[in-house]
Amino acid sequence: MQFIEWSPKMSVGSDVLDGHHRMIIDCLNRLHPLIGAEGRDEEIHAVLASLEEFVLIHFSEEELCMKKAGYPDWREHKEQHDRMYDVVFGLKSDVEHGRALDAKALFDIIYNWLIQHILGEDRKYESYLRNPAPEPEGLWTRSNGRPY
Ligand SMILES: [Fe+2]
Ligand SMILES: [Fe+2]
Repeated sequence: MQFIEWSPKMSVGSDVLDGHHRMIIDCLNRLHPLIGAEGRDEEIHAVLASLEEFVLIHFSEEELCMKKAGYPDWREHKEQHDRMYDVVFGLKSDVEHGRALDAKALFDIIYNWLIQHILGEDRKYESYLRNPAPEPEGLWTRSNGRPY
């Protein structure tokens, strides 16, 4: 049985991004049976590795979609992504340095953060993806004139 199922009410208005979110949910479902289980370190590490690789791809794609759709709060959203990625990357380097990784700790991070982020913050840009705002000239340009 799945711990959490993706449902259409989680949709953010993009098949690609919804597909990514389903993969994050899949990581959570893979971890759930590993909580409290003995000798499953390799499986826990495999979930962390797919999450670390995948979350980066997802965040970049999502940031691009938000910018293209004219979502005005994309910078704050990107900052949240950066903070989430730092923690996932930190866990990965802990493991590489031989520190034990607890399935429950990883599960809590994915659940409390990524899922709450998808259901809360990600849904805020949904209407922009469905009805993109005309791109305001210069908004996505740094003060030095370079694009973000
Ligand atoms: Fe997302
Ligand atoms: Fe996001």
